[in-house]
Amino acid sequence: MNFNELVEKRESCRAFTGQAVSHEQLDTIVHAGRFAPSAKNTQPWKFYVVSGEKLEAMCDAVKVMGFNKFVDNAGAFIAIVADSNAVLDKMIKRVTSRDFIENDIGIAVASMAYQATDLGLGSCILGAFSGKEVAGVIGLDEKQGKDVKLVLAIGHKQTAETRVKNRKSKEQTVFFVD
Ligand SMILES: Cc1cc2nc3c(=O)[nH]c(=O)nc-3n(C[C@H](O)[C@H](O)[C@H](O)COP(=O)(O)O)c2cc1C
Repeated sequence: MNFNELVEKRESCRAFTGQAVSHEQLDTIVHAGRFAPSAKNTQPWKFYVVSGEKLEAMCDAVKVMGFNKFVDNAGAFIAIVADSNAVLDKMIKRVTSRDFIENDIGIAVASMAYQATDLGLGSCILGAFSGKEVAGVIGLDEKQGKDVKLVLAIGHKQTAETRVKNRKSKEQTVFFVD
């Protein structure tokens, strides 16, 4: 599978089988997150890999306001928690007037989602969850709930088929300027 084939194969999986995801697979996925690029190489993240007995509590934490009911059969979750470096962040902000933590974490979660696809697994990036509850599950205090930026649900897919992607057209989104 070349990279664009992988890009087309990755999709948000919302039907998992309940089969466990191995420690080795989770290690491979989290490696892709650790090696993601970040502004000034700040690596402003911590990855909390949740499986086993904590799965049920994690499912409850990401089911909010009617969203994410499908997670019950996920085999694991990775919560990505912001871990900023005040000195580097200040330096970056002075030069760019911007804050890149959310961007960096987005790149890390995407890298892990593609790695999961490459392993034949399904995944779904979750932005809807209770930060407080996720923090409780992973052993952080309530206040750190605001630092939980994204959660990646991972599992074995119920179906091997890939959906047709619904995307804006090339004309609407791509501009070659020369
Ligand atoms: C930052 C972010 C947050 C998301 N949050 C959720 C979520 O809470 N629940 C969910 O089912 N999908 C969530 N998604 C998945 C998107 O709905 C999905 O990526 C989009 O519809 C495109 O579909 P595809 O991933 O299958 O290509 C999220 C995606 C991103 C990038």
